[in-house]
Formats: sequence, structure tokens, C-alpha cells
Amino acid sequence: MHSLIIFASGTGTNAYAIIEYFKKNGKAKVSLVVSNKANAGVLEIAKREEIPFLIIDRKTFHETLLLEQLSSYKPSLIVLAGFLWKIPDALIHAFPGKIVNIHPALLPSYGGKGMYGHNVHNAVITAKEKESGITIHYVDEHYDEGDVIVQARCKVGQNDSADTLAKRIHKLEHFYFPRTIEFLLDTQ
Ligand code: GAR
Repeated sequence: MHSLIIFASGTGTNAYAIIEYFKKNGKAKVSLVVSNKANAGVLEIAKREEIPFLIIDRKTFHETLLLEQLSSYKPSLIVLAGFLWKIPDALIHAFPGKIVNIHPALLPSYGGKGMYGHNVHNAVITAKEKESGITIHYVDEHYDEGDVIVQARCKVGQNDSADTLAKRIHKLEHFYFPRTIEFLLDTQ
């Protein structure tokens, strides 16, 4: 069975969708959840699901001890599901081609530092875009610039707020993220 490590900073709805999906299909299990926020909702999910978790700070994020801890779980993939810090080069080099991220817009538009969650949706609405979507991509040394694996689109209406758009985007994410991970595991 494949081992997955999830990095997340927020509520964790994507983490939950991935956990549930693989509980049912049995090809993988989430063996560790890593968060930079001690009060992140994703940690409540990890506790409830009895998944080991790790809380990191800026210092531990850059230590080789973290690499060793992550390696000990033998991850087939490291999945960034709403994780907001830039991944250190050492981590990218330790897991080449094995770190994937989800972004709530159609990259290369609306990516880069500071572009997360509602900041992204507000920018899309302000620019009067007619569509937005999600991008699942490999993580490289540059923020939101790694090779795209999958994109999915949705409409943006004139009356959309960041909240209503976020709901639509989350639906796409919860459907496509687990299935894309499964595809990557099957073709590894
Ligand atoms: C997701 O919409 C994800 O695309 C976004 O954070 C949200 C986390 O939601 N990620 C980024 O903005 C990365 N730049 P969740 O905690 O409910 O899964």
C-alpha cells in the first residue's frame, strides 16, 4: 500500500477528501499530516482519524531531522493541500518528482507568493474573469511554477463573492485531487 504525507495549514477539507477516498479504495493511506499551525483544523481531522501528525515551525522546517522523519514514512507522494510556506530546496531534492500541490486558480494566472485561498478568489473576481478553476502541479524551487498535472475549470458569475467561488473551487478540488493522486500512484 502506498504511503502519503499531507502538508496543510488550514481547515483541511482537501486532506479529509483524500483520507476518505483512500480509506475506501485501499491503494494508499495517509501516514502523516504535517502542519505549520498548531490550531489548524487539519490537525483535528488527523487526531480524529488517528493519523500521526507533526507541527513544524520555520526552524524545524529547514532541518535535516525533518527530512529523516519524512523519509521514515517512505512516502510515494508528499501532498500539499492548502500549505502556505514555500518548500525548501533540500526537501524538493530529497523527494524529486514526488511533491504535488493544489492551487485554487488556473496557473500561471493568480499564483505566486501571497496568492492563497480568498486572496486568489478576490483577485479573480476583481479582474472580472469569466472562469477560474484548479491546478494540480509538481512542486519545484519556484512558487506555483512546477509542471502542471491537471487543471479543471468552473464558471465565475457576476454575483460571485470569494465565498461562493471558494465553494465551487472546493468541489472541484475534492473531486480531482484524490483521483489525480491515485493516477500518479498507479503510474509511478
Ligand atoms: C484550497 O482551496 C487550496 O487550493 C488552497 O488552500 C485551500 C485549502 O483548503 N491552496 C492555496 O491557496 C495554495 N496557494 P482546505 O484547508 O479546506 O483544504
